[in-house]
Amino acid sequence: MNQHTMTSVYDQLLVREHLAKATPAGTLSEADEQRLKERVKQLLVEQEAVIVAHYYTSPVIQALAEETGGFIGDSLEMARFGARHPARTLVVAGVRFMGETAKILSPEKRVLMPTLEATCSLDLGCPPDEFATFCDQHPEHTVVVYANTSAAVKARADWVVTSSIAQQVVKHLHDQGKKILWAPDKHLGDYISRTTGAEMLLWDGACIVHEEFKAKGILDLKKIHPTAAVLAHPESPASVVEVADVVGSTSQLLKSAGELPNETFIVATDRGIFYKMQQENPGKHFLEAPTAGEGATCRSCAHCPWMGMNSLERMIASLESGSDEIQVSPELIDKALVPLTRMLNFPKDSSAA
Ligand code: 13P
Ligand code: SF4
Repeated sequence: MNQHTMTSVYDQLLVREHLAKATPAGTLSEADEQRLKERVKQLLVEQEAVIVAHYYTSPVIQALAEETGGFIGDSLEMARFGARHPARTLVVAGVRFMGETAKILSPEKRVLMPTLEATCSLDLGCPPDEFATFCDQHPEHTVVVYANTSAAVKARADWVVTSSIAQQVVKHLHDQGKKILWAPDKHLGDYISRTTGAEMLLWDGACIVHEEFKAKGILDLKKIHPTAAVLAHPESPASVVEVADVVGSTSQLLKSAGELPNETFIVATDRGIFYKMQQENPGKHFLEAPTAGEGATCRSCAHCPWMGMNSLERMIASLESGSDEIQVSPELIDKALVPLTRMLNFPKDSSAA
């Protein structure tokens, strides 16, 4: 397996600068929270809008999505929900690539986000021009990109995949004898390559949240909770994935928390998911996988700083003023729609590029 090293996410000052500029969501009194929630509800009705939220957003945003007939899900399910829902406006509470995916799939809809500042280290670490050069250097490869990328990177791809479907798509391509170029998450790419046997050229990107989980910390925690099952998102390093009982997308981890007989779980993904895990499994105990220990920097501490920017105040501001609307050019929409549609139609229509 080769690894492309033109861009290292950690070397990118861009990521650090972006985080330094980012304003985190504040804390509110109960009365203020209630008042803001009521205002969002009113605006949603007035503007025929619906909230499409990711599991990593704050419990208050997830609860509001539930109360207003909106949706909470993983990135693939969010894309599917947004495309089939009749609302004129989608309020995507998550990160920018999720808003862009919604816009590409429903160009006729207005797609608002609480803040366009909310991005993703994987997206930041894969600039479209550098990525295009990488693809040009390997024309014989089928280009598979993770959904956590810009519309421009998707437009250069043959396939877009999310973590819930990546393995099946790559296995399908590998079975057809295709050589694969993968971007941007090296840990997810490495995991898929190991589990499918596919030879993959990997872009050197990583998620700053999942990269912080430590296998040693998880094993130490298991000594205290020997019957706990370990759930890990595949954006985590190989050493963490190796000690996990279940590896999967956010929705797959949530499902396992309900299906497994264990009473305690050590969870290696963003702690935002605890809202749904606890709600669906009130008798079970969920523990954050440790991020501390040797080599720890804890830039994220199990919570995505960009997901954390989604606040009620920002949602109101966006709905009131129409700010933070996702814009994707028609040319990019046309191009990015092709690999995205392949994913949404897989495996029904698995015609490979
Ligand atoms: P899912 O597709 O599993 O929701 O993951 C998205 C993501 O950004 C994980 O960090
Ligand atoms: Fe991106 Fe990681 Fe945040 Fe997911 S958790 S949006 S991969 S930075």
